[in-house]
This record gives sequence, C-alpha cells and structure tokens, in this order.
Amino acid sequence: MTPRSSTPVRLRGVSKRYGSTTAVAGLDFDVQTAEVFALLGPNGAGKTTTVEMCEGFLKPDSGTIEILGLDPVGDNAAVRERIGVMLQGGGAYPAARAGEMLNLVAAYAADPLDPKWLLDTLGLTEAARTTYRRLSGGQQQRLALACAVVGRPELVFLDEPTAGMDAHARIMVWELINGLRRDGVTVVLTTHQLTEAEELADRIVIIDHGAAVASGTPEELMRSGAENQLRFRAPRMLDLSLLVTALPESYKATETAPGEYLVEGHIDPQVLATVTAWCARLNVLATDMRVETRSLEDVFLDLTGRDLRS
Ligand SMILES: Nc1ncnc2c1ncn2[C@@H]1O[C@H](COP(=O)(O)OP(=O)(O)OP(=O)(O)O)[C@@H](O)[C@H]1O
Ligand SMILES: [Mg+2]
Repeated sequence: MTPRSSTPVRLRGVSKRYGSTTAVAGLDFDVQTAEVFALLGPNGAGKTTTVEMCEGFLKPDSGTIEILGLDPVGDNAAVRERIGVMLQGGGAYPAARAGEMLNLVAAYAADPLDPKWLLDTLGLTEAARTTYRRLSGGQQQRLALACAVVGRPELVFLDEPTAGMDAHARIMVWELINGLRRDGVTVVLTTHQLTEAEELADRIVIIDHGAAVASGTPEELMRSGAENQLRFRAPRMLDLSLLVTALPESYKATETAPGEYLVEGHIDPQVLATVTAWCARLNVLATDMRVETRSLEDVFLDLTGRDLRS
C-alpha cells in the first residue's frame, strides 16, 4: 500500500519564471485532508502555474512540492493515479459523446462513481449523447469536472471550475464539491470569484503576482484589518458623548453625514443594545440600522490597492 501522507499538499518556497515574468514567487502553503482549499487571485496571479506544478505538468525553478507525500514530477505516475485533475479550458476528444467520454474515464478506475449519477448531478443527462465539440462551454466544463472526479481520487485539483457558467450550473458544481468534502476528498480549487471562495472554501490563500498576500478561513480574512461597522439613521446633530461613554473604550461613534451615524468596533448584541438604549434615552428612533462586515473584496483591495475583478 502507498503510504498516506498526513498533508496531501505541501509547498515550500515554490517559484516559477517564464523569461522575465515571475509567475510564482516563493509560495508556501499546506492543504489538509478533506478540506476545500481555494487559491484566490486576479487574472495572471499565478493560479494555473501553481496547480500545474502540483499536478506535475510543470517543474518549479526552486522550492519543493509534496503531493500525497510524493514528488509530483519524479513520482508522476504514482501521483497521477491518485489525483483528479480538471484543467482550465478542458482538454478532450472533440468527436466523443459526453456519456462515452465519462464511461471511458470511469473504466480506468478500480472503484468509480456511477457515471449516470454523476451526469445527473451535474445536469448533463440530456447532453450525454452530444459530442464534446457541440456541448456549450458550461457543459464542457461540467463534463471535465465529472471526468476529474469519477475515479474517486483522494485529491482533486480544479482550475476555475465554474468559469463561464450560469448561476444554475454553478450551484450544481458547488453542491458536487461540497459532496466531495463530505466524502473525505481533498479539493484544491482556483478562482477569481470572491463569492465562490466565500461559499466553498474552508481555507483561502489570496495570491497576487505569484505571492501569497493573505490566508485564512473566509471568516478570518473578512475579520482581519478594519473592524465591523454599525450604521444607522437618526435625527441630525445628536449628542454622541453619552454613547461613547457607554461603549467599550476603543469604540468610535461619529455622525458621518447629517443624520447618518457610524459606530466602529466589534459589533455584538451588547453593542446593539447600548446604541438602542442611548436612542431611547434621547427619545429618538434609529432607522436603517445595519451591521456591515467586510467582504473578501475589501480585504483584497486593502492588501494590494487593486480591485480583484480588474
Ligand atoms: N507558458 C507561459 N509562457 C510565458 N508566460 C506565461 C506562461 N504561462 C503563464 N505565464 C505568465 O505567468 C503569469 C501567471 O499566469 P497563470 O496562468 O498562472 O495565472 P492565473 O492566475 O491562472 O490567471 P487566470 O486567472 O487568467 O487563469 C502571467 O503573467 C502569465 O502571463
Ligand atoms: Mg489560470
């Protein structure tokens, strides 16, 4: 039996250059068993280069990569047997029918998933007899995903699995990925969509220009940096001094525009109660009270000064 590494994916100081372009610049991260791990970054950040090195398609210029305890280049055949790969932009036999292609891939596996079930789960049953080249882009993507997972790999790499899909197809893919996690499969995916990373990932590494700029759970990333904010509307020019005294020491309360109030600090039920009590004392009604948390977009903007979508 192949020894099972306790850490399915381990990168240390991994770099890759193409001529004068540094695609990946000293990346370190670990992916744990049965977690969904997202590499989040804008176009050209180095996501595909990173996963292709993990899959053994590319050799790093420096640093080390261990996949299931093995070297993805030196032990390529052994690694390939145990991983599932979905490449960005597919890769298939254009004249093969969708169902045939999936059956063919399943035939190579010792204990495959049921291809019929997989087609159904990904909304491809109606397209099973359609040739690959006639499938829509989103259907081709879903078929590539089906082919990557049908052999029940213990680790799968999905490069932008939902790129170009409509909302309905995207949800089917998300459900499949959540199912993989429940089955104990380790998933490494890349995405430039914040909502996808937020929805799916147990842990995220944000990369920019080939280097990690932040990492953590979605909650940790969104909590980092600026604190939460509470905003509400009330009559203008209220005396905030009583409120400030009632709030914990580091909190700030300001009137940002006439009648628009902002409380900065960690907003918990106690803080809401304090603000409401202050309004009651002044006999005013606060309206439009809302707690604002930061999005991953804000985090990325803070870290890089750039918009993730650009
Ligand atoms: N074969 C190559 N030859 C030259 N430069 C390359 C090659 N492959 C990638 N690059 C460059 O390396 C950088 C990282 O590219 P990579 O494809 O890894 O980014 P990405 O994060 O996957 O982007 P996208 O979101 O567009 O898929 C980019 O600047 C890209 O132009
Ligand atoms: Mg890419």
